[in-house]
Amino acid sequence: MTDEHVPHLPAIDTTVPHSARVWNWALGGKDHFEPDRLLGEHLLKHYPEALNVARASREFLGRAVKALAVEEGVRQFLDIGTGLPTADNTHEVAQRYAPDARIVYVDNDPLILLHARALLTSNPQGATDYVQADVQDPDTVLEEAARTLDFEKPVALMLLSMLGHIDPDEAALLVQEYTRRLPSGSFLATCDSIDAPEMIKLNEDYAASGAVPYICRSEAQLAATADGLEILPPGVVALNTWRPEGPLEPTYQWGLLARKP
Ligand SMILES: C[S@@+](CC[C@H](N)C(=O)[O-])C[C@H]1O[C@@H](n2cnc3c(N)ncnc32)[C@H](O)[C@@H]1O
Repeated sequence: MTDEHVPHLPAIDTTVPHSARVWNWALGGKDHFEPDRLLGEHLLKHYPEALNVARASREFLGRAVKALAVEEGVRQFLDIGTGLPTADNTHEVAQRYAPDARIVYVDNDPLILLHARALLTSNPQGATDYVQADVQDPDTVLEEAARTLDFEKPVALMLLSMLGHIDPDEAALLVQEYTRRLPSGSFLATCDSIDAPEMIKLNEDYAASGAVPYICRSEAQLAATADGLEILPPGVVALNTWRPEGPLEPTYQWGLLARKP
């Protein structure tokens, strides 16, 4: 059978590095192609202190989802810019502490759609769903997520290491648009690469490879995503200092957890 006979087969460009696949390489995964590996190896060689951002982000996911499920009683999660499935995806962490948790994953990369089955392994008491959509289209994201999530009840919006694909000022307005549409008691968890010189240079090399550029942000730009929300302790900080449960390497990945009053 040729591709033209396969309905809805997504087009996947394997000739240039791609965000989710380079990330997967950095996490020690297996879902990447040669251009992703070559770029990863280049970045590791030239910026050895910076490439732990992927691991720092996933570890933050674990601690933030645990805090949301256990301390805040959150049972609904909207994880946009999910990335390729790896160990401890959002539903696995959430349902470990709250078996009835409901999770909707959203990504615009067709490769994630192909791997989405690994994200749909919900505990029977809860639910998971996958939506192929662009974060910049909140109408579609929220409409499709409403198949699984009840938007009358609090939702944790997760935007982890993905807003750097969008202009920083537009990103803050976009997140505010989402949180404006979520009920009181909802949460925002977000993290991104901070604008340290080494991280800016790393992302210049990243963009020069032909990958969709990733834009670092200042602490103020990161905090602006939570405008109108209450940022919870310890604030907008490097992820290794965000409620660590053991010693963690210093990282240029910063983040925050905030609650909608
Ligand atoms: C660096 S990965 C981060 C994955 C995961 N959130 C994590 O922290 O491990 C960025 C992800 O965002 C997705 N992404 C990029 N631009 C997007 C957009 N406009 N809408 C939805 N997803 C997007 C990419 O496809 C990729 O899977």
